[in-house]
Amino acid sequence: MIKKFLDLGQQPLANSYLKKKNLYKKEKKYRLQVGLDIEKKLVSIIRTIPSGKMFNDNYPYRSSISKTMNQSFGYFAKKIKKKFKPKFIIEIGSNDGAFLKYFNKKNIVGVEPCNNLAKLTTRSGYKTYSEFWNKKLAKLIKEKFSFSDLIYSANTISHIKDMDTTLNSINLVLSDNGVVILEDPSLLECLKMNAYDQFYCEHIYVFSLISISKIIKKFNLEVFHVEKTKTHGGSNRYYIKKIKNKKYKINKSVKKILKEEVNFGLNKFSTYLQFANRVKKSKKSLLKILINCKNKKLKVIGYGATAKSVTVLNFCKIKKDLISYFLDTTPDKQNKYIPGVHIPIIKYKEPINKNIDVAYLGAWNFKKEIFIKEKNFLKNKGKFLTHVPYPKFI
Ligand code: TYD
Repeated sequence: MIKKFLDLGQQPLANSYLKKKNLYKKEKKYRLQVGLDIEKKLVSIIRTIPSGKMFNDNYPYRSSISKTMNQSFGYFAKKIKKKFKPKFIIEIGSNDGAFLKYFNKKNIVGVEPCNNLAKLTTRSGYKTYSEFWNKKLAKLIKEKFSFSDLIYSANTISHIKDMDTTLNSINLVLSDNGVVILEDPSLLECLKMNAYDQFYCEHIYVFSLISISKIIKKFNLEVFHVEKTKTHGGSNRYYIKKIKNKKYKINKSVKKILKEEVNFGLNKFSTYLQFANRVKKSKKSLLKILINCKNKKLKVIGYGATAKSVTVLNFCKIKKDLISYFLDTTPDKQNKYIPGVHIPIIKYKEPINKNIDVAYLGAWNFKKEIFIKEKNFLKNKGKFLTHVPYPKFI
């Protein structure tokens, strides 16, 4: 049974940045509500959108665009090569090859349903299947290459509604001593940071160790190690194996993080109601700050037109009168408009300067990288505005 705890109102599809000519066309909207599956302790959005509508040939998001992501994929690739010495890797959701590129082309295949992205890695010589992850594809890969001893998927499994098919397909192609590594935003961090913008159409699930463990058990899989990472505002990296695989012992991180999650109350519905209350307060307070800036005639812009910020802007009904435009480095977002609220997105060309008073951090998860880039803005008394963990200037 799924019990609703949060209502983020009518929302457009998050990554459907609008061209000028489409501004006056009716946009598809859906009600973004979030609930808890009481048995599995699994948090999900309640109404889901068919995947083909979200992941298609126009998908704008590029993993390689940020220095932080590139570095973290590089560091991680090195680490798993050393630790697991994988012979054949499958990456589910290979995006533009930010992870693939650290491996020998013979040892890895990518799976990426967005053809505009799959084309990029195919062109650089990596075998990439431009398809959704399913049993048919898993069988095909197994027949063509053999079993995989390492399956990696970052920020993808949480986007796939049918967990049974996902995990069944993984089991079909995973060798008995193989390892699955899943990396997704952490529910604990999301609740701690009041990062309600982790919820949007693509993020069907926000996992915890509690829920992941329950879900995979049915498929004779178990988590043997968990790592916290800083990506996407706080993620968990789950190392998973077949229960019968005795090659790896259960690391103490599993017990430690489970305890942390239980202590925070992730298995109690009241925790989620409290979170929903904090979200309502966050909306009021962010609007108050922005209206105040407008009254003072301050120049406010947005920094990083993230999918996450689409949730915030539409939930809080923040339009062009409060944030004049967003700057973004992603070519497919530039010269377009934020869905729903129609704030223009402008190409980021150079560090921001004195003409700007306040920059709302849409990409708050890259705060560190951005602050280094914008040190002069900060030196000149420019202010960044964030909503995590609560609305404030930094
Ligand atoms: P991200 O937070 O990774 O994802 P999501 O869209 O899933 O919420 O997106 C980061 C966005 O911020 C991306 O569009 C690129 C942009 N960005 C900048 O414009 N400048 C920067 O310095 C950084 C780090 C990101």
